[in-house]
Amino acid sequence: MECIDCNGIELPLLGLGIYSMHNGILKGVVEQCINNGYRLFDTAQLYENEEELWDSLKRQKAKGKKIFYQTKIPGKLLQGSKRWLYLNKKSVKQQCVNKYSYMEGSLPDIYLLHSTFLGFERQYAKMLDFQQKYCVPLIGICNVNVDEIKSLYSVTGKYPQVVQVEIHPYHSNQILVDFCKEKGILVEARSPFAHGDALADWQCEAILTDLARTYNKTVPQIILRWITQQKIIAIIRSTNPQHIQENIGIFGFHLSNQEMEMISTLNKDESYGVKSKNNK
Ligand SMILES: NC(=O)c1ccc[n+]([C@@H]2O[C@H](COP(=O)([O-])OP(=O)(O)OC[C@H]3O[C@@H](n4cnc5c(N)ncnc54)[C@H](OP(=O)(O)O)[C@@H]3O)[C@@H](O)[C@H]2O)c1
Repeated sequence: MECIDCNGIELPLLGLGIYSMHNGILKGVVEQCINNGYRLFDTAQLYENEEELWDSLKRQKAKGKKIFYQTKIPGKLLQGSKRWLYLNKKSVKQQCVNKYSYMEGSLPDIYLLHSTFLGFERQYAKMLDFQQKYCVPLIGICNVNVDEIKSLYSVTGKYPQVVQVEIHPYHSNQILVDFCKEKGILVEARSPFAHGDALADWQCEAILTDLARTYNKTVPQIILRWITQQKIIAIIRSTNPQHIQENIGIFGFHLSNQEMEMISTLNKDESYGVKSKNNK
């Protein structure tokens, strides 16, 4: 697995996101991923499976395996969610400490604010206090744009260490990626397959299918290679054993600069949102 350095921490360039995975499925998938070499796992308070994930990871971590547990504190009301999340009403610090008691003294390796909202900069400042006090290795924010990152900097004097945003061939997010590179912010691509909703279209894109043929890879593998070769961490979701294996098979080949640029020309700035119609 290729890695990227983030503030002295070597993070794997591929991770598993477990949105809407629960119980037996989650445990089996995480176990299969670990057996296949995955070491970064992404959840959120909103997914309501943090404890289940921690339960699957803690024994591996206790054995000294370098496994990263990443989660998110809620931001604003997310599209499709029935609940308002009253982050503003509670101290972030208190919420973090109470929330992670199940981790018995451990804390997440990477802690992200799930989205922006009015006044998110002040909440992020509290996350910075929390990070300092409890030595959380990395913190960051999801679903932001460049102006919001600049605003965060103007209020807190810090850039986020990690930013997680939607990135795939139809939504390259190039301006934000370039800005983050310039400022030394690590970028994570969430929904690299657009929740699975664009995969059928990509199977008809000659640029992708030709490259898949050239390298004897699948279209999803070409997409993940394009993302990770930009030094962006790809956070995929899969419950299919074959796909889990396929998705990690992307580190033995290299796309040329020209091929990377060709894939980038597919961009349409087309966001598929935060919630899939398929992955309920
Ligand atoms: N911060 C945020 O607001 C935010 C928002 C959305 C997502 N995320 C994170 O990002 C993760 C991934 O994003 P996502 O859930 O939107 O899904 P995604 O990874 O873009 O797409 C998942 C879909 O792709 C399919 N798939 C995966 N590998 C495949 C392969 N090799 N060939 C064909 N199909 C394949 C999966 O089906 P199979 O199960 O059959 O493989 C599933 O239907 C989430 O779980 C979550 O952790 C964060």
